[in-house]
Amino acid sequence: MKIMKVSLLLLIILGLTFSVALAKKHLPEERGKTLFEDPKFAGGSKACNECHPNGKGLEKAAGKKEFKIMGKTQKSLEEAVNFCIVNANMGKVIDAKSGQMKDVVAYIKSLKGKVKQKAAGY
Ligand code: HEC
Repeated sequence: MKIMKVSLLLLIILGLTFSVALAKKHLPEERGKTLFEDPKFAGGSKACNECHPNGKGLEKAAGKKEFKIMGKTQKSLEEAVNFCIVNANMGKVIDAKSGQMKDVVAYIKSLKGKVKQKAAGY
């Protein structure tokens, strides 16, 4: 009987751990997606989504160390995002450590491997 109780307790703990982990993982990229689709993000006048529909073309960005955008080289994903904010969205640089940057980066990271899934569906 005791073993039943212990297993049940373990299952509950496991379930809670998973839901907390999922909730944490889920939220930043969802918020990032909202920013990505917002033309007013960072004071800009264009949404990231207009040039990168559904994150198209950014699937490999999360793993890159260097970014070539419009002839200029950026050394981090945050710099690349800020470059597009200023030169494409016509907005203002945001702090690389800000919550918004973290959310957008989380969204871009979530795109990894999405292409293949989509391609298989066509
Ligand atoms: C006016 C069009 C335009 C808009 C709007 C735009 N971008 Fe870009 N972006 C580009 C172009 C062009 C490149 C360079 C070519 C490429 O890699 O697709 C690029 C490249 C990037 C890269 C590097 C991709 C890589 O793998 O090298 C990132 C990251 C990125 N953009 C993020 C963003 C984010 C975040 C926003 C919104 C804040 C945004 N872009 C808005 C045109 C745009």
